[in-house]
Amino acid sequence: MKKMISGIKPSGSPTLGNYIGAIKNFVHYQNEYELYVFIADLHAITIRQDPLELKRNTLDIATLYIACGLNPNKCTIFVQTDVLEHANLGFILNCFTYMGELTRMTQFKEKSQNTNNDSIGVGLFTYPPLMAADILLYDVDYVPVGEDQVQHLEITRDIAIRINNLYNQKVFVIPDKIVNKVGARIKSLQDPSKKMSKSEDPSDKGCIFLLEDPNKAYKKIMSAVTDNEMLVKYDPDNKPGISNLIQIYCSLKDVSIETCEEEFKDSNYGTFKKAVAEIVKTTLENIQSRFKEIRYTDKLAEILNEGKLKAQKIASKKLLEIEKVIGLK
Ligand code: TYM
Repeated sequence: MKKMISGIKPSGSPTLGNYIGAIKNFVHYQNEYELYVFIADLHAITIRQDPLELKRNTLDIATLYIACGLNPNKCTIFVQTDVLEHANLGFILNCFTYMGELTRMTQFKEKSQNTNNDSIGVGLFTYPPLMAADILLYDVDYVPVGEDQVQHLEITRDIAIRINNLYNQKVFVIPDKIVNKVGARIKSLQDPSKKMSKSEDPSDKGCIFLLEDPNKAYKKIMSAVTDNEMLVKYDPDNKPGISNLIQIYCSLKDVSIETCEEEFKDSNYGTFKKAVAEIVKTTLENIQSRFKEIRYTDKLAEILNEGKLKAQKIASKKLLEIEKVIGLK
């Protein structure tokens, strides 16, 4: 079985973008791959976090993985800080990553924009080598992510290839990204030129949270920005709002874009939006009812503990291997 890993950062309440771009796909992959999913709490603290919220978001994401359909008997679910090897390898990889490469990272540029150098944490700068460590510790073949993570995957490959070449041996498996065609970048409902993200949409109206009131989510879809053409057609350049709603609909309904266009070819935007709002509402209701069953149980702690032990075993072996190659052991 080929191996796969991915993670979500608990830096805010998880969104419909996280579900469509990431979690929903993991659920399919767990049957075909040896899958590892984790909560990237170290990555979250690269931006200031409220301690109670950070803890809550971490456990919420762990619960959501399961509530969305991940089966702990089929995949390994763990918290990044429970496996110390991530931070350890992260530091080692810092030493094989260049300032120039990190300065060019889009995410760093965006997040540090408008901030004085004196108040940007170094952790934000060295975010990519830590992410590379998350991936390279597990010898995975694939990393399924949304479009915004592609650059991080590219630098992961670059670092791994660099080290393999330097030591003239296959220290690391070189991972490939998997980015789904539909839903790789769900946009803000209010400004479809931006991605759907809590931090990038201060009004909250453009972003649907997996744990929000489903009726509120319904209303957000109904008031999503569209255009004046009254034609349900996928055309991201000219019709970004409608194209975004089509992506949401197709992903949640598991239908193709053509099928959606055909279904709504004679409909007005009101009718189409209602259909999108309905499926979003139903999806949230289903996820939330499972979420409630799991969130405050001992079972959750057990699952995370089992995940930690499994991940630690693999990660500690790999770290030792690398330390030997480098001469640290
Ligand atoms: P994060 O927490 O920002 O997002 C988690 C996953 O959700 C995807 N995603 C989206 N997909 C489509 N549309 C959107 N609007 C949207 N918003 C988020 C992301 O692409 C991602 O797949 N750096 C990572 C976390 C991480 C990681 C890793 C991922 C740390 N180490 C190792 C994979 C492997 C991040 O911040 O994701």
